[in-house]
Amino acid sequence: MSTFWSLYVTVLTLGTIFGLTWLLLSTRKGQRAEATEETVGHSFDGIEEYDNPLPKWWFMLFVATIIFSLGYLVLYPGLGNWTGILPGYAYLDNDKKTEFSDGQVGWTGVHEWEKELVRADARFGPIFAKFAAMPIEEVAKDPQALKMGGRLFASNCSVCHGSDAKGAYGFPNLTDADWRWGGEPETIKTSIMGGRHAVMPGWGEVVGEQGVRDVSAYVLTKLDGRTLPADAKADPVAGQKIFAANCVACHGPEGKGTPAMGAPDLSHPGAFIYGSSFAQLQQTIRYGRQGQMPAQAAIQGNDKVHLLAAYVYSLSHGEKTEEAK
Ligand code: HEC
Ligand code: HEC
Repeated sequence: MSTFWSLYVTVLTLGTIFGLTWLLLSTRKGQRAEATEETVGHSFDGIEEYDNPLPKWWFMLFVATIIFSLGYLVLYPGLGNWTGILPGYAYLDNDKKTEFSDGQVGWTGVHEWEKELVRADARFGPIFAKFAAMPIEEVAKDPQALKMGGRLFASNCSVCHGSDAKGAYGFPNLTDADWRWGGEPETIKTSIMGGRHAVMPGWGEVVGEQGVRDVSAYVLTKLDGRTLPADAKADPVAGQKIFAANCVACHGPEGKGTPAMGAPDLSHPGAFIYGSSFAQLQQTIRYGRQGQMPAQAAIQGNDKVHLLAAYVYSLSHGEKTEEAK
């Protein structure tokens, strides 16, 4: 905070406290010392007001809040750049962890949060480490690990993949057998650690509008085995040629996909995340798609990602899916 704003906050805060103190004391001056039966003369709806002084305990309560606020402002950061005299690290048992991210000592909300993290690490770190040393398939069978993985998933992944991990438009379902980048335990971990950036180029300018219709028709009828809408005005046979010339490099000759590139299996409508209707296919093929899975290595670290990978793996391999069938 610049000196100006620091002063601004300080003057406003102290000014308010001293102003209220003055108000409290100055209104007390004119008051009588003793309680009386006399009223001030106002009457409203039959209610009259006694001319009594503020009860002493009430007055003391005000005084106490003022003293409290001043004490608080000395101890804690509250006045501009004043950091307070409470040493933040004094509460921390572990000497090594007195270095906060900003290099400052003293109490701040951020420091309290950092200490919370240190305590959580001390408590859960060994458990995470234990699981991190086990193969993902084994971790995926451990109820405690799945519970922890499930919590991590709920707070970090469900915004995109859904709380049931079944995905949504643009976000893949993680509970089924279709994998864009591969469903091996280590591959799932790689997807989460490093993130993924899919690149499906747009084809509108390359193959033209009719080309887009034709190749969409090919994907829909030949690869997926569905029937074309009556008004499609598209030729799947012409589309097949376009596919062979432009798409097999990534999606493979049978359209079954190439996990190394994140090119999905187009022979299975359930695998589409951008919709599989004739109109949606054209949209995807005309303009392309760039799905992005954000990397978690720096945010979660290896041990938590290991648990997350086990949790995700369990969704399509665990007993839960067996029950659901
Ligand atoms: C900002 C949204 C977002 C968040 C948050 C997110 N993901 Fe993803 N994730 C995606 C997208 C989009 C893809 C698909 C990328 C693509 O198009 O290939 C994906 C792909 C994946 C894949 C690969 C799926 C496959 O079929 O190969 C896995 C595994 C995965 N995410 C797990 C996770 C986990 C675990 C978390 C939580 C730590 C997470 N994701 C958080 C958006 C997200
Ligand atoms: C450079 C490699 C590459 C080429 C060439 C390519 N694709 Fe793709 N395609 C991808 C990738 C990667 C994705 C996944 C995009 C994403 O997840 O955001 C994809 C996604 C798609 C999808 C959407 C699937 C879904 O989940 O909704 C369709 C449909 C598709 N491609 C059709 C085609 C057709 C038709 C062609 C040829 C005209 C083609 N692709 C050429 C890499 C490619």
